[in-house]
Amino acid sequence: MPNEGNKAESKEKQPRVYVRTFGCQMNDRDSEIVSGMLAEKGYGFVDKPQEADVVLFNTCSVRENAENRVWGQVAALNPRKPHTAHRTPIIGIIGCMAKIHGENIFEKLPHVDFICAPANIYEIPNLIERSQKGEDRISAIDKQARPLSYKDEIASFDYAQDKSSALRPPRNGNLDSRLCAYVNIMEGCDNFCSYCVVPYARGRERSRPQQEILDEVRGLIDNGVKDMTLLGQNVNSYSSGEGKDFIKLLEEIDKVVGGRNIRIRFVTSHPKDASEDLFKAMRDINSVCEYLHLPFQSGSDKILSLMNRKYTRKDYLKLIDKLKKILPECAISTDVIVGFPKETEEDFKDTVDLFKKVEFDSAFVFKYSPRPHTVALKYEDDVPKKIKEERNQILLKLQDEISLKKNKALKGEVVEALFEKTKKDEVSGRSRTNKTVICQGKKDLIGNFVNVKINKVTPRALIGEIDEE
Ligand code: 5AD
Ligand code: SF4
Repeated sequence: MPNEGNKAESKEKQPRVYVRTFGCQMNDRDSEIVSGMLAEKGYGFVDKPQEADVVLFNTCSVRENAENRVWGQVAALNPRKPHTAHRTPIIGIIGCMAKIHGENIFEKLPHVDFICAPANIYEIPNLIERSQKGEDRISAIDKQARPLSYKDEIASFDYAQDKSSALRPPRNGNLDSRLCAYVNIMEGCDNFCSYCVVPYARGRERSRPQQEILDEVRGLIDNGVKDMTLLGQNVNSYSSGEGKDFIKLLEEIDKVVGGRNIRIRFVTSHPKDASEDLFKAMRDINSVCEYLHLPFQSGSDKILSLMNRKYTRKDYLKLIDKLKKILPECAISTDVIVGFPKETEEDFKDTVDLFKKVEFDSAFVFKYSPRPHTVALKYEDDVPKKIKEERNQILLKLQDEISLKKNKALKGEVVEALFEKTKKDEVSGRSRTNKTVICQGKKDLIGNFVNVKINKVTPRALIGEIDEE
C-alpha cells in the first residue's frame, strides 16, 4: 500500500541524490553532466547513499575489481522490499557496467530500479521519474552510439530549453572545482586492444563537432575555468570530418584562449597515432601544457602483438626519443599491464627495461583482468595472481625511484603552479607538467598562477615556497 504521508513530505523537501563515480575521467565528466541535469531539476547532493532519495552508481568495467566494488556496494544498500511506488532510494546503475552486463544486473541486484548505458545518460532525469512512478527494472541501453552532437541528444530528451547552456551543465555535485574542467572531444574507440572492454562499452569512435567543442571551451573560460583536459579514448584520431585534425583543434582552442593564461591538456594518446607533428604542436601552441600521457602497456613485442597494439617496442622508444628532442621539458606518464596471458619472465624484463629507458614521470600499473567480449578472453589467464602482484610491486617501486629522481632534478627551480585546494595552512595545485605542487598558503591563493621555488620533493609532489621575485 503506497504511503501517502511520505509522498506529501517528499514533495516539500528538496530531493537528494548521491552520485558515486568509478573509473576514468570520461566517467567523471559523465557524472558531472548527470549532476548538472539533476541540479537543474532541483536536486541537492549528499555524501551518503543512506541520506539520498536517488542513488546513482556510475560504473567502470575496465577491470574486474572495479566491478566487484559496485556489486558489493549496491548489494549492501539494504533493499526495501517489496517494491512499492514510493520506495526509496531509487537505485540506478549507469555507465559501462550497464552496457556490458545489461539486464543481468537485475538478476544479481533485484533492488536496482534502472540501468543506463553511457550513451543514454541524457535520459536519466526521465528514468528517475519513471521509477518514482513505480515502473520497475527500466533499461536504457543504446542500440546505437551516442550521436555526434550532444545538441541533438539534449534536444531529443528535452533536457533544457536553452541548449547552449545545456552544453555546459552546472559544475557541481561531487566535482566542485570550477577551476579545472574536462571537455569531451570524442567518444568510443576503434582500436580493439585485445584486453580492453571500452569499444564494447562506449561504442565505436566518433568525434564531436569542432564548433560545439569551441563553444564549450569559450563558456568554461567565461566561467573562470583555467585548466582544461580534453577527453577521448584516442584523441589523436579526432576528426571534424575532413580527416584526422586533432592538431587543428588544438590550434582553434588556442585561438579561443586568446593569449590568456589557460592550460590545455589532453588524454589519452595512442602511440600508433602520436606523431612528431603533435609534439611540435605541443611545443608551439602556448596554452598546450608540456604533459603527455602515452600508454605503452608492455615492453615485449610478443605481448604487444597479442594485445593488438599495432606498434613495437622500438616504435615506442623512437617516439619517446623524438618527444624528448622536440620538447625536453615534457613530463610523460603511461599505463602498463602486468600479467597479460603468456607474459614470461623475459617479457616482463622487457617491460622493466623500457621503464628504465624512458624514465616516465609517473605510471599507472595494472594487473591483467580478463574482460567480457574481449579477444584476450580466449587466451588462458595463465600468469598466477601471486606473480602478477610481484610484477606490479616491482614496477611500482621502480617508478617511485624514477619519479623521485626526476623530481629531485627540479630542486631549486621555479615552477608555475595553479592552486586548486587548501588543507590546514597548505595549498596544493599542479604545474603545467601535471605534477602536484604544495606550499604554505591560504585560500586566497586558490585559482591563482603562482611561481613556487621548489626546495623539497617526494616521488609524488614538489614542495616549495612562493617565489616573490
Ligand atoms: N586488465 C588490466 N588493465 C586494463 N586496462 C584496460 N583493460 C585492462 C584489463 N583488461 C588498462 C590499460 C588502459 C587503462 C585505462 O586500463 O592500461 O590503458
Ligand atoms: Fe581500450 Fe585500446 Fe581503445 Fe585504449 S586504445 S580504449 S586500451 S581499446
